[in-house]
Amino acid sequence: MEVRAHAKLNLTLDVLGRRPDGYHDLRMVMQSVALADVLTLEESGDGELRVRTNLHFLPNNEKNLAAQAALRWWEARGQVPRGLEITIEKSVPVCAGMAGGSSDAAAVLRALNQMEGAPLSLREVAKIGERVGSDVPYCILGGTALAEGRGEILTPLPPLPQCWAVLCKPEFSISTPALFAKIDSVRLRCRPDTQGVIAALEAGDLHGVARRMYNVFEDALPERQRARVSDIKNVLIQCGALGASMSGTGPTAFGLFDDEGLAREARERLADWGGEVFLTQTV
Ligand code: C5P
Repeated sequence: MEVRAHAKLNLTLDVLGRRPDGYHDLRMVMQSVALADVLTLEESGDGELRVRTNLHFLPNNEKNLAAQAALRWWEARGQVPRGLEITIEKSVPVCAGMAGGSSDAAAVLRALNQMEGAPLSLREVAKIGERVGSDVPYCILGGTALAEGRGEILTPLPPLPQCWAVLCKPEFSISTPALFAKIDSVRLRCRPDTQGVIAALEAGDLHGVARRMYNVFEDALPERQRARVSDIKNVLIQCGALGASMSGTGPTAFGLFDDEGLAREARERLADWGGEVFLTQTV
């Protein structure tokens, strides 16, 4: 079976506080984009669980979230693990704040559910996904959604009017646990207007959404990295983006465009800057 694992963008990301279990309560508006990894799942006769990817540095064993997802599926279904070969053609940048690994895990769960004739609803599959990672439940449902709690409490929102997104992942990577640990000691200067974004979505107002996008993790980045993200956002805005922000714990910065020509120009401008640059659409 072949399945696609879409990347996500955070239209907003707010951290409400640290929880007794060590996680943080979040409030964020999530959006899927067309940029996706492609996964192929094949049953294998030798009883082994294997992951193959086109990126040599990714784990090919149970450390890979895609394999974790398969293990959690069999556990939840009361089944013994079976032979399975998962091949992942990665296109979504790794450690980029776009839920690449979580989305692969989500795709495996959806595929295994389908391979068994869809015994579970997507909400039930998302419940299993919670045990693999905080972003996995959202990646199972996809689209435009408000994610709260650890990220697993999901409320579907009216879809963002379709638009182009230009994404740029700078050369460096961010450690998600390290940035979450740091956010506790950072005085946040600004919070996203999540309610305003939801109201703009309800009104079908792309401009209203784009100009309210904000992610509190930008304030927690080390100085040089924050400056780089800020430079990318400035280029995007100069090129005609309706708004620009960082996704997840970064470092990918993105801009939303209602004009494909301007989005293409922005991609060309950013390509000269290094890093990985993509032009995609919201889905
Ligand atoms: O859930 P997941 O394994 O993807 O989370 C990775 C790390 O991010 C956690 O170990 C934790 O440090 C941090 N995290 C958090 N609060 C969340 C989600 C993630 O503190 N809501």
